[in-house]
Amino acid sequence: MSLFTARPLDQSQPPSGLHRRLGWPHLVALGVGAIVGTGIYTLIGVGAERAGPAIILAFAIAGAVCALSALAYAELASMIPDAGGAYAYAQTGFGEAVAWFVGWSLVLEYAVACSAVGVGWSGYIVAMLGHLGLALPTALTAGPHAGGIINLPAVCIVLLVAALLMRGVHESARWNVALVVVKLSALALFALLAFAVFSTDNLAPFTPYGLFAQEIGGETRGVMTAAAVVFFAFFGFDAVATAAEEAKRPERDVAIGIIGSIAVCTVIYMVISAAAVGAVPFTRFAGRAAPLADILILIGHPLAASVISLAAVLALPTVILVMMYGQTRVLYSIARDGLLPERLSRVDPRAGVPRLVTLLTALAVALVAGFLPLGEIAELTNAGSLTAFVAVSITVLVLRRRYPAARRGFRYPLAWLLAPLAAAGCLYLLLSLPQLTLDRFALWHGIGLLVYAANRLWRRRQAKA
Ligand code: ALA
Repeated sequence: MSLFTARPLDQSQPPSGLHRRLGWPHLVALGVGAIVGTGIYTLIGVGAERAGPAIILAFAIAGAVCALSALAYAELASMIPDAGGAYAYAQTGFGEAVAWFVGWSLVLEYAVACSAVGVGWSGYIVAMLGHLGLALPTALTAGPHAGGIINLPAVCIVLLVAALLMRGVHESARWNVALVVVKLSALALFALLAFAVFSTDNLAPFTPYGLFAQEIGGETRGVMTAAAVVFFAFFGFDAVATAAEEAKRPERDVAIGIIGSIAVCTVIYMVISAAAVGAVPFTRFAGRAAPLADILILIGHPLAASVISLAAVLALPTVILVMMYGQTRVLYSIARDGLLPERLSRVDPRAGVPRLVTLLTALAVALVAGFLPLGEIAELTNAGSLTAFVAVSITVLVLRRRYPAARRGFRYPLAWLLAPLAAAGCLYLLLSLPQLTLDRFALWHGIGLLVYAANRLWRRRQAKA
């Protein structure tokens, strides 16, 4: 097949037998539960380092861009039910070469996101043990960038979650609801205590590093760079898109579910970041491993700091679980198409899990989590997802043209106006990331190109033989 032959749209699967019983409030709740995680618990510190008090604004910008792309995602998910997500949409929109590029970006998105959440989790468990008088040595809780050797807690949680996945354990819905309540209640507690000592003095200057990306003190800073970093905090909305077949009125409910959950999260994030930057000068928690707990200690609430650390320790592993699961599904989908060794798509018959893929993913994720700092990991993840979002926003228009009459469970409203805006917004945020991240991203795709070329060569040989 030629590099750019698009895969024909196949809607031959019969509509599923799933019951349509979810209304939009369910979908909003589902989305919020899937979205809230390390982004607000930990990345807020990295974001504040880049934007100062204007981290509040950065969350708003990231939320708006994410919502616009999320709608494109929802339309494609309702047209092309495939485990590969954006990779599969790109196959249908543009063919193999672009799909490979998107799929390879997604590997970065999901896998590296697991590492980021692992590092975020580590920050809070170390803080919690510290409050209990069980301080762990820095050598074992930080990578070489922060004077340590390895971030062992991050490695352990990643491997533990992978072990669960390999046994075929998925999230149980009831557990999930409980954890959503835990993580939101802890944030509410934080807001209450932090707003009690709110001072506008801490907000000035509001944008100490300006609006647009620029080099300051050897770091790329600015509100846009912070927005590109905290973009991560909005991942997880795809949980709503995948529920399209169970929505009572998918056309309306999925849009409200996606926009609603991203809007609710944007408000939560803006409130929490306003509470944080108003409570103490942002420099006191910028770049810290457990910023919310640190702020609570600074304002005299050590017990609440322990509570919030415990909430993060309990709730964040589910984010790793979902992300790692997503990762294995993308790799599985790529391997099933023959673009990676077929062995990677083998599913263990008893557990129903692609074991080899899960194991390899876990090892790579643990390696990154063990040695790299959170900010850099999150930026790398975002480079992958912003790229995928650009592709998704364009694919939706390509398929509108090519298959105007295809069945769509959900249609992107005002797509011709908003989807190009989404693509431009994602591209702009991508380019606002620090140069080092963009270089690493380019290197990643260089490796991807080699893998792809080797695979094509091998397939051609096989075909001849
Ligand atoms: N949105 C998820 C988080 O912030 C990925 O952890």
